[in-house]
Amino acid sequence: MEDKGSYRNPYPSTASLRWGILRDAFLAPTRSSQPQPTEDYYNKLSAQIRISRKTTGGFNLIPCRIISKCEDVCVSYTLPLEGAPTLVLNQRLDNTTTSVNLINDFHICNQFAIDNTGLVCHWPSEDVLAYFCLSHADMFRSKRILELGAGYGLAGLVIAASTDAVEVVISDGNPQVVDYIQRNIHANSGAFTETRVKSMLLHWSQEDVSNVLNTFDIIIASDCTFFKEYHDGLAQTIKSMLKRSEASEAIVFSPKRGNSLDKFLEKIKEIGMCFSITENYDKEVWQRHQFFLNGDRSWPNYETDHCYPFLVRITL
Ligand SMILES: C[S@@+](CC[C@H](N)C(=O)[O-])C[C@H]1O[C@@H](n2cnc3c(N)ncnc32)[C@H](O)[C@@H]1O
Repeated sequence: MEDKGSYRNPYPSTASLRWGILRDAFLAPTRSSQPQPTEDYYNKLSAQIRISRKTTGGFNLIPCRIISKCEDVCVSYTLPLEGAPTLVLNQRLDNTTTSVNLINDFHICNQFAIDNTGLVCHWPSEDVLAYFCLSHADMFRSKRILELGAGYGLAGLVIAASTDAVEVVISDGNPQVVDYIQRNIHANSGAFTETRVKSMLLHWSQEDVSNVLNTFDIIIASDCTFFKEYHDGLAQTIKSMLKRSEASEAIVFSPKRGNSLDKFLEKIKEIGMCFSITENYDKEVWQRHQFFLNGDRSWPNYETDHCYPFLVRITL
């Protein structure tokens, strides 16, 4: 996924065929004495198999720095709040340029009807969501929280480490992503005081979720509305997992990405939920948005439609 709207459909109809082609394409050069494929070659292949690519910028609301690079990259996040702990997140070092990762991703995406966007990077909307949660810590007091499509799970971990939530469940539908979430929970366990923190493999089309129905006071998600084929599942998941209470709500941050956010909101309405959408919800985020629009070079190719997340609040 590039930040200019290149989320791609993970359900190629000829998936198995492509898998075979891809495997042969990758293995052939290593078997023979031919030169190794170039990065451009991998880029073309990853485009063909609908694998996403890293964003070129971010809001950088939560300062971070790389503390080690090995098989994974370990990034430390300094929460901009007095007394707040530093969080450490393991992330995959490089998504697109190793054939093993690419083949593995393709296989998992096929098997679990999922995309690999959660492994590519920590996306800009997650940073905004985490910052928003940090700035509204009071709303999480004594609440049970669920993060959907969490990727590396920064926002869920921020809530767990800096609010008085009772429980935070950080979920994703991609099992590889959930492994990272679990590792990240473990790596930061010293930062959680009373809050229980769990990972969960949760696909939005999953039917057997009776143990968590009507459970959560607050559901959070960022950048999860891009694939229209997931809209129904995502909307139904929110509806069925939110606690039947006037105070419960889902907080979703998403760029518009063409008409995909609007289509998702139509679905929300269609299944009987209410929503509000806000463009300017935070002074700092808005200011950075204006800088990027006005040519700040730290985010090349920035434009509102694919980069600026709107705040959507959904209630039953
Ligand atoms: C663009 S990523 C966003 C990740 C993270 N929220 C962020 O902003 O960095 C979308 C996430 O949704 C997950 N996802 C996509 N489709 C899903 C589905 N049908 N059920 C559950 N998770 C899904 C992906 O695995 C991925 O982690």
